[in-house]
Amino acid sequence: MVLIILQIFIVFSTAQRSSFPLPDVTPAERQFKVVYEWDTIEFAYRSDIERANAIYSNYYIPQNNIISDIKAFANRLYVTLPRMRPGVPATLGWIISPGDNGRTDPEIEPFPSWEMNEVGNCSALQFVQGVAVDTDGIMWVIDSGRVDTLSQGSTRHYNCQPKLLLLDLKKNGSIIHRYHFPEDVASRGNNYLNRIVIDDASGGFAYITDNSGSDPGIVVYSRRLNRSWKVRENNSMRAAQNAREFSVNGTDLNFAIHINGIALGPYYNPDTGTSSSGTAPSYNALNDNYERNVYYTPLTSYHLYSIPASLLRDPDFARRATPRDVLQAVTDLGLKISQTDGMIMDNRGILYYGLLKEHAIAQWDSYKPFSLENQLIIAKDDNYIQWTDGMSFDEEERRLEH
Ligand SMILES: *[C@@H]1O[C@H](CO)[C@@H](O)[C@H](O)[C@H]1NC(C)=O
Ligand SMILES: *[C@@H]1O[C@H](CO)[C@@H](O)[C@H](O)[C@H]1NC(C)=O
Ligand SMILES: *[C@@H]1O[C@H](CO)[C@@H](O)[C@H](O)[C@H]1NC(C)=O
Ligand SMILES: *[C@@H]1O[C@H](CO)[C@@H](O)[C@H](O)[C@H]1NC(C)=O
Ligand SMILES: *[C@@H]1O[C@H](CO)[C@@H](O)[C@H](O)[C@H]1NC(C)=O
Repeated sequence: MVLIILQIFIVFSTAQRSSFPLPDVTPAERQFKVVYEWDTIEFAYRSDIERANAIYSNYYIPQNNIISDIKAFANRLYVTLPRMRPGVPATLGWIISPGDNGRTDPEIEPFPSWEMNEVGNCSALQFVQGVAVDTDGIMWVIDSGRVDTLSQGSTRHYNCQPKLLLLDLKKNGSIIHRYHFPEDVASRGNNYLNRIVIDDASGGFAYITDNSGSDPGIVVYSRRLNRSWKVRENNSMRAAQNAREFSVNGTDLNFAIHINGIALGPYYNPDTGTSSSGTAPSYNALNDNYERNVYYTPLTSYHLYSIPASLLRDPDFARRATPRDVLQAVTDLGLKISQTDGMIMDNRGILYYGLLKEHAIAQWDSYKPFSLENQLIIAKDDNYIQWTDGMSFDEEERRLEH
């Protein structure tokens, strides 16, 4: 298997970004290009002996390592390597942002350290699939606390309590906050915390998809309250039977994966209906009067849904709302032509999302109806685009990476 990181050059024209000169690109140059690719993932072991020992003891099994999420920050690309199978020595790491020279298969440096990636040590990271970086350069890391999720009969039963860690990227990833999810929000041994997005409103909120088979939903964490809760909705957050079967590059798949991809829309003023694009509000000025949509989709589904962030942020809503109340708060935006794993939205309200069986990446302007003619395929490659997962924007250079 070849793992790749692609970049696409996308022209933005937001107020924030318009100070950058727009690149003079031809359509051909806007296609994704491969910047890194690996036959198997290598890690930055401190010595050859250490690497050999890790292989000998099955602590490192090269072919079992895959990259899931990716986030760009300050000249680095942070990557997650969920421990679905044994032999993943670090579940969070980084590589240098691609430049004009250097290796195309760089070694992954464990982050924040080797020690913090120790399997079976519940103080360290066990299984990280999603990460997000906020406007202060704090990385929010979700750890479902499990290992070997795809290895039936694995003898390793380290079930740590699922947790959220806040790491300061400007201080070498020093831990500034640690939070353990209670059992009724994310169950130890059964949760599957997958993707996370951060809302800077009211002291900072995380919206996290839990696509566990037993209790899927959106986990909400308030940094100010230091509390979490879960919003559940069966129609839109569970797998749809008609989307179970599909194939990617000739491999037939059949599975039911619940709510997975999640993306955050730009703020708008619900009283006036005006969007904040052009004059993005300063984060200090944000208050609860501003609304934004949270977009999501189960992997096993053709639908895209949204729910207002203000409802997710309200712990009373999660506690008091009846299933009917939650259903009424959800908008079914319409159909995609394929299943989707990763997705991301920029601050102009453009959603980017993978179309797995099409080997493609699409975009949609959320100010338009989610009709098929408004969903534009911006990249399609049978060889290089086989499973679009986590995506990230590189603000400086307007690149979308996945
Ligand atoms: C577990 O990991 C933490 C954080 O790296 C470390 O401080 C601690 O010593 C480790 N515990 C054991 C028993 O190795
Ligand atoms: C981060 O780590 C590097 C290398 O270990 C060190 O040189 C640097 O001083 C550290 N920076 C901070 C802010 O701790
Ligand atoms: C936040 O909640 C966690 C529970 O996981 C607790 O251990 C921690 O002390 C709390 N932190 C603060 C600052 O209240
Ligand atoms: C949601 O679906 C699960 C599994 O089918 C079921 O146990 C639960 O009662 C359902 N909840 C509602 C509100 O229908
Ligand atoms: C896609 O399928 C073709 C035909 O089976 C195969 O030759 C190719 O290696 C596959 N591509 C990847 C990236 O797995």
